[in-house]
Amino acid sequence: MKTLSNKVAVITGAGSGIGRYLAILLARSGANIAACEISETALAETVSMLRDYPVKVSSHLLDVADKAAIEALPEQVIAQHGHVDLVFNNAGVTVDSTFEDLSETDWDWVMNINLQGVINSSRAFLPHLKQRPEAALINTSSIFGMIVVERQSVYHTAKFAVRGFTESLAKEMKGGSVQIHCVHPGHIGTNILGNARINKSEESANAFQRLMGKLAGIGDDQESMAAFFEQNGMHPSRAAQIMLNGVLNNRPRILVGTDAKLMDLCQRLMPIHYEKLFPFFTVPLTFLRNKKPIKGLPSL
Ligand SMILES: NC(=O)c1ccc[n+]([C@@H]2O[C@H](COP(=O)([O-])OP(=O)(O)OC[C@H]3O[C@@H](n4cnc5c(N)ncnc54)[C@H](O)[C@@H]3O)[C@@H](O)[C@H]2O)c1
Repeated sequence: MKTLSNKVAVITGAGSGIGRYLAILLARSGANIAACEISETALAETVSMLRDYPVKVSSHLLDVADKAAIEALPEQVIAQHGHVDLVFNNAGVTVDSTFEDLSETDWDWVMNINLQGVINSSRAFLPHLKQRPEAALINTSSIFGMIVVERQSVYHTAKFAVRGFTESLAKEMKGGSVQIHCVHPGHIGTNILGNARINKSEESANAFQRLMGKLAGIGDDQESMAAFFEQNGMHPSRAAQIMLNGVLNNRPRILVGTDAKLMDLCQRLMPIHYEKLFPFFTVPLTFLRNKKPIKGLPSL
């Protein structure tokens, strides 16, 4: 894609973290924004942050798991903006639980948002994207769509499936005007753990988190872990910038962060026992890394 200027971008989960900074950076690049979000307060906050930019902004309060709401969305966006050029299927949630203790309700909650939401939105928007001279569909998976840890079975199921779905779709759409991207962020400092459902019948942190927590001197309650997670990951503005660069350079697979790149390398080198390589790569990175990525983009 040559430029983001004057494009119309739909972003789900625009009220927080990566989605909020996608909205801000896109608006700064001259793109008009259709911000979609389940939380009214978070949506209003993002919309007010966009006021400084001379672009058109529409807000759409919706649940991406609601199929009818997603099916109605393209018409609503087109009614306000005339067309749609970019769709970021970004909204996502997680549950921390072993599979055996995970309720069916929590399983469905994650699958309906992280997978069905992405598929339904892709189906609804693709015919409209195809009408544009240049367009992009950007689906967010995770580095957890490439490697696995314990207590994240439903998140992995959804994120591996987003990757499979998106990469297959990319092959089908090759050579056309719609770019298809799959995004694999590593640790990005957002409130995703604060928004997560934790299985209260068990300890809230997994063994790795507890070890990291002990080393860093923080508690293993959800609030402390969420604050630690938010303060120590790559700043979401930098993650959003990497994603937009990936779109502008037409990179089908967008790995976000050195940790994501190293974990991807580990699973290529040792496809089954990749976690044996983590102590050599990712754990030292957590403690030794340059603090710069944790800070927001200086220009914001
Ligand atoms: N933060 C990370 O380390 C990380 C790593 C890999 C992948 N990801 C993925 O990146 C994406 C963005 O996550 P984030 O870290 O910015 O999280 P976040 O919690 O900061 O933001 C997610 C946003 O999605 C919204 N949302 C949740 N459920 C929704 C629904 N049903 N309908 C509409 N909106 C909904 C939330 O209210 C929130 O505003 C997610 O898909 C997540 O799985 C994040």
